[in-house]
Amino acid sequence: MTDKKKTAIYPGSFDPLTNGHIDIIERALDIFDEVIIAVLHNPSKKALFAMDERVKMIKQSFNGRKSVMVDSFGGLLVDYAKMKNAVAIIRGMRALSDFESEFQMALMNRKLNKEVQSVFLMTGFRWIFTSSSIIKEAAQFGGDISDMVPEAVHIKMMEKYPKK
Ligand code: PNS
Repeated sequence: MTDKKKTAIYPGSFDPLTNGHIDIIERALDIFDEVIIAVLHNPSKKALFAMDERVKMIKQSFNGRKSVMVDSFGGLLVDYAKMKNAVAIIRGMRALSDFESEFQMALMNRKLNKEVQSVFLMTGFRWIFTSSSIIKEAAQFGGDISDMVPEAVHIKMMEKYPKK
């Protein structure tokens, strides 16, 4: 029997990557051989960081780690997962508030392609309150977010929102 490499996709907007995302990726790597961080190209959603900036910050944060790939995608997630021969879609779960939309998305993805499983991982307790949006809001008004994002992201955030 040959051991087949198990690949999972971790999709998201990653505007920007946070330590909560990194926590989920580390947990996913305990289960899967390889994780592809797939940044959604969504022209209708206004992002703080351009796609190439988001991809670059993620690459810098993982520093060439072999089991972590960074890519962007558009269109249906399940089509992208199939193209990459991925067996699972990883999503992070924080609190109950995440559940409803995640459940809906997972069931739709399953309806569209029953061969790709959705796997939900719980973030470490210290990241339970964080999200890219709330971190951006805190940074915008001068809050210290240095221990909530990787260094590469912190540097770019400070360029967007310089301290007065
Ligand atoms: O970080 P986010 O913004 O919560 O990630 C949402 C994402 C990228 C997982 C979701 O919007 C997505 O998968 N979009 C691609 C289109 C798609 O396949 N949608 C789900 C079935 S309708």
